[in-house]
Amino acid sequence: QTVYILNGPNLNLLGTREPATYGTDTLASIEALCRATAAELNIDVEFRQTNHEGEMIDWIQEARHHAQALVINPAAWTHTSVAIRDAVTAIALPLYEVHITNVHKREPFRHHSYLSDVAQGVICGYGLRGYRYALIEAARQHG
Ligand code: DQA
Repeated sequence: QTVYILNGPNLNLLGTREPATYGTDTLASIEALCRATAAELNIDVEFRQTNHEGEMIDWIQEARHHAQALVINPAAWTHTSVAIRDAVTAIALPLYEVHITNVHKREPFRHHSYLSDVAQGVICGYGLRGYRYALIEAARQHG
């Protein structure tokens, strides 16, 4: 099976972006962990990042032809985007929502997600390991 792992805006800056909040792991190290986890689980992953909302929506739509599950860290779009929510509900693939930080102990505007109530599950606060946990769940439930 194939899982699309899609990352939203500013996650390309991980490693140097607010390290006190996000730590020093880079997006490349998250990708490496995802690839290692995928090899263990015997699944394929497509790993991408974009700063453009329309591109994210195109990728979600594309996933319906190629993937059995989605792992998305929507970053700031979590809290703003009805369009990304609509893309997820339009393609009937299970969504695993991942956040590096525990958004619930941050600013109030991060407490609401447009995606959580349409997600299979939400993992936040475990740094890059959240991606690994999401892949394990995706493989277990849809393998
Ligand atoms: C984030 C949390 C969001 O609130 C924030 O806008 C991000 C990253 C996280 O992974 O912790 O960019 O999704």
